[in-house]
Order: sequence, then structure tokens, then C-alpha cells
Amino acid sequence: MTKVAIIGTGPCGLSMLRAFEQAEKKGEKIPEIVAFDKQSDWGGLWNYSWRTGSDEYGDPIPNSMYRYLWSNGPKECLEFADYSFDEHFGKPIPSFPPREVLYDYIIGRVKKGNSKNKVRFNTTVNSVVYDGKNFEITSHDKKNNKHAKEIFDYLIVSSGHFSVPYIPEYQGMSSFPGRIMHSHDFRDAEEFRGKNVIVLGSSYSAEDVALQCHKYGANTVTIGYRHNPMGFKWPNGVKEVFHLDRLEGSKAIFKDGYEQEADAIILCSGYLHHFPFLTEDQKLNTRNRLYPPKLYKGVVWQDNHKLLYLGMQDQFHTFNMFDCQAWFARDVVMGKIKMPDKTEIEKDINKWVAMEEKLENPDQMIDFQTEYTKELHDLSDYPKIDFELIRKHFKEWEHHKVEDIMTYRNKSFSSPVTGSVAPIHHTPWASAMDDSLKVFLDQPKK
Ligand SMILES: Cc1cc2nc3c(=O)[nH]c(=O)nc-3n(C[C@H](O)[C@H](O)[C@H](O)COP(=O)(O)OP(=O)(O)OC[C@H]3O[C@@H](n4cnc5c(N)ncnc54)[C@H](O)[C@@H]3O)c2cc1C
Ligand SMILES: NC(=O)c1ccc[n+]([C@@H]2O[C@H](COP(=O)([O-])OP(=O)(O)OC[C@H]3O[C@@H](n4cnc5c(N)ncnc54)[C@H](OP(=O)(O)O)[C@@H]3O)[C@@H](O)[C@H]2O)c1
Repeated sequence: MTKVAIIGTGPCGLSMLRAFEQAEKKGEKIPEIVAFDKQSDWGGLWNYSWRTGSDEYGDPIPNSMYRYLWSNGPKECLEFADYSFDEHFGKPIPSFPPREVLYDYIIGRVKKGNSKNKVRFNTTVNSVVYDGKNFEITSHDKKNNKHAKEIFDYLIVSSGHFSVPYIPEYQGMSSFPGRIMHSHDFRDAEEFRGKNVIVLGSSYSAEDVALQCHKYGANTVTIGYRHNPMGFKWPNGVKEVFHLDRLEGSKAIFKDGYEQEADAIILCSGYLHHFPFLTEDQKLNTRNRLYPPKLYKGVVWQDNHKLLYLGMQDQFHTFNMFDCQAWFARDVVMGKIKMPDKTEIEKDINKWVAMEEKLENPDQMIDFQTEYTKELHDLSDYPKIDFELIRKHFKEWEHHKVEDIMTYRNKSFSSPVTGSVAPIHHTPWASAMDDSLKVFLDQPKK
């Protein structure tokens, strides 16, 4: 019997488990599956951990999420086609839920099935050797301190790429008297109440960490961008300036001459695709981009079609794109999708990479990833979902952010699965300090 290993049970690994389970429900004979996760439960980044650094076994913590994190895109854009928000919560809920609510939704779908018994928790994959036919996987069951070697026919890598921080160095850091940290270790904005915070970066972490610090009472927040500013209309107390030049004592000096006394520096400088368990010939080597090369349909490793990667793209689309990838991956593994010849594969990859390299603005990037997801969707029996509505929502959301970065999370969108329209949340995001599931779902009675 074909044996398949899945590394990681974050949203991508869970999509993979779900895809196989749906095929089994239809009466198809599925392969034997073993999923590994180094955490003690599934959910990946959404499974919040207060820990930073190492876990109790000395293994690096993969988690990068923090308290008070709310979805930064409309939930309607990531909705599962086969499990709507309405089905899970029993009623329409607002469009920008906090982490705990999205976690509940992700887990709710897989809890309905029997996939959990396929997962080995607290088990880290340490090495994978491919001998031309099979994968030999060495894993460490941390709880019982047991090492195991097993042979698999297929390998699905869904270990995420927002766990290993990229940490640059600036002159003066080693003598800075305050705190220097990466957003990977950011857990609670309350820590920075009354402080002067420098945030370095110009993407989603920089934007959200800056706004969190402001929301929870930082004195000033100064964002240093390197190439392009985010350019939002920042609230009083938040300022965006050009690239940090150096630190002199506790003073941050920027390349445009701006100077700011600082208590803390938060590096929102992104993450590395990091696969220490893979040999060089199997390793995806890429920066965070919308179409990493060497992956056919963004999934199948060009040089070895038994090695598949999920969720390795930079992401506008998330959960339903991961589903489309997983349904496609399942059908490749089960032989329902035949891989084309080498030339055709190369042509297809080159076509997508060339298109990606020409993208100039967020609207074009949204179009690109929507087209990619639609193409994948057409290749499997993943249920129908309105990607044109999702495309429209993403563009509207981008424009809401430009209008007012403090209020975009108060807007409402319609479901691409059920068509229902989200209610407006009972509290505007900027004053909603409690992010618990209970308070979020507790809509005041009309
Ligand atoms: C701070 C932050 C906020 C985000 N917010 C949003 C948001 O609001 N909306 C949204 O749609 N997306 C958001 N994302 C994007 C996020 O990438 C996806 O939502 C999603 O978590 C990706 O799923 P994944 O399964 O690829 O990876 P992950 O969620 O990272 O899961 C990977 C899993 O692999 C396991 N693993 C890794 N290495 C090994 C190993 N060697 N052995 C065994 N197990 C291993 C890890 O323990 C983990 O459980 C956010 C990302 C970050 C960093
Ligand atoms: N739900 C939420 O609210 C939320 C919050 C945070 C993050 N997220 C998610 O987390 C994921 C990761 O986002 P991310 O922002 O961490 O990573 P990212 O999107 O990969 O962006 C990395 C950023 O680091 C900057 N950078 C790199 N090296 C730098 C240096 N030496 N000095 C200054 N800046 C440097 C880059 O700037 P250049 O452009 O100049 O290279 C870029 O702006 C995304 O999927 C995002 O959606 C979501």
C-alpha cells in the first residue's frame, strides 16, 4: 500500500488530511497516511503559544502569532468551500475575527472527521533521505524521547514558512540599552505601553505590530521602511520614516535624518523558508514570493514528483487556496492526475514565474494569485466557490485600508460559499480590547 508522510498539521497539513478523508468518504481507497507535528496539537501558527525560544524539549517554537491578533483580511476570502462559517458558527459572524475564532473554525472542520489518529504530535521530523524510490524519514517523538526511521512513498511538506525569523543587524544594536526582538517573538503589545517603539519593515507584520502597539498604549511608534513605505494615513503617535541608519545609545537615527529616542526595536523583517530536515536537492530555496520556482502548479517538486509542497507562496489567498493545493496534491498522489512531461512542466513553471516577476501593484498581485487558485481549483473536485467574488473582496479590502487603516476591520463582506452578508461587529476594532471568542460572538440582541 502507498504510504504518505505529511510534515506539519497547520492549515495546509489539515487541508491535506481533509482532502484524503473526502476521497475516502466517496468510497475511494486512500493511501496510508502518517502526519507529523512538532507541536502538541494541530492548527499550526493558529495554535497560540505564550512560549518564545524553545519548547520544553529544547526544540525551537514555530509559533509567530500573538495575543490580540485579528484577521488582517476578510474571513470571506479564506472561507472553506466545503465548510462555511455559517455552518460552523450557526449564524453569520463579522468579517474580521480574532485569532481564537479562526482557530475554532479551522479545527471545527477537521474535528468532524477521524484524521487526528493519523497525526503524531510532539514529533519532529529531523531528516529525510530520498534513495531514488522512497523517502526514509527520521523523526523524534519528544515526549517519549524515541527516535524512529520509516519508509514512505510520498512526502508532503506543509511545515509553513513564517516560523524562522530573518534577523538583520544594524550598527549600534549591540550597545542599545533597550529591548531588540523580532516579530516572531512578539506576544503582547501591552508590554510596550508608554514606550517609544521602533518597528522595522513595511509589510503585514510591521503594519499590524505598529498598530497593536499604538492601540495598547505605546507612547510613540516609528516605522522604518527599507524600500517602499506602506503609506497609510497613520493615527497620531505613529510615523513612517525612511530606513534605519544606526543606533547611537538609545537614539535611532534614520537615513532621512529623522531621530527618535527608543525603548524597544521590533524587527518585522520577515521569515526564511527553512527546511533543515531536507537534503539540498529536495529543498525549496526561495524568498517570500507569490510563485516560488521549481514547483509545478505551485505544489509538485520539479525534480521529483513524489515530493510535494503546500502553502509555500506569499499569501493573499490562504485557507481555500491551501485546500485547492491539497485536493490537487491528493489526486497526484492517487494517480488521478497524470504529470505532464519535463518540457511541459518547465514551460508551465516558467510561464507563472515570468508573470509573477512583472507584477507591480497589489491589485495585479491579487489577480495573479486568484488566477493561480482558479486554475488549481479546476483540476480537482474541490467544491464550487465564487473566486470572482473573493477577487472583488480583496480589491475592496485593499482600498478600505488605503482609506483608513484604523477602520478597515469594521467593514462587512459577503460569503463566496453561502452568500450571507456579515453583520457589523458590535465594537469597532480600534476600541475592541478583548479578543476572546466569547466576546466576539456575543452580538448584542437587536
Ligand atoms: C503573525 C502571522 C499572522 C497571520 N495572520 C493571518 C491571517 O490573519 N489570515 C490568514 O489567512 N493568514 C495569516 N497568516 C498566514 C499563515 O501563513 C497561514 O494562515 C497559515 O498558518 C499557514 O499554514 P501552514 O500550514 O502553511 O503553516 P503553519 O501554520 O506554520 O503550520 C506548520 C506546522 O508545521 C509544523 N512543523 C514545522 N516543522 C516541522 C518538523 N520538522 N516536524 C514536524 N512538524 C513541523 C509546525 O509545528 C506547524 O504546526 C499569518 C501568519 C503570521 C506569521
Ligand atoms: N493577521 C494579521 O494581522 C497579521 C499580522 C502580522 C503578519 N501577518 C501575516 O504574516 C505573514 C508574514 O508577514 P511579514 O510582514 O512578517 O513578512 P513579509 O510579508 O515577508 O515582509 C517582510 C518585510 O521585511 C522587510 N525587511 C526585510 N529585511 C529588512 C531589513 N534589513 N530592514 C528593514 N526591513 C526589512 C521587507 O522589506 P522590503 O520590502 O524593503 O524588502 C518586508 O517589508 C503574512 O502572511 C502576513 O499576512 C498577519
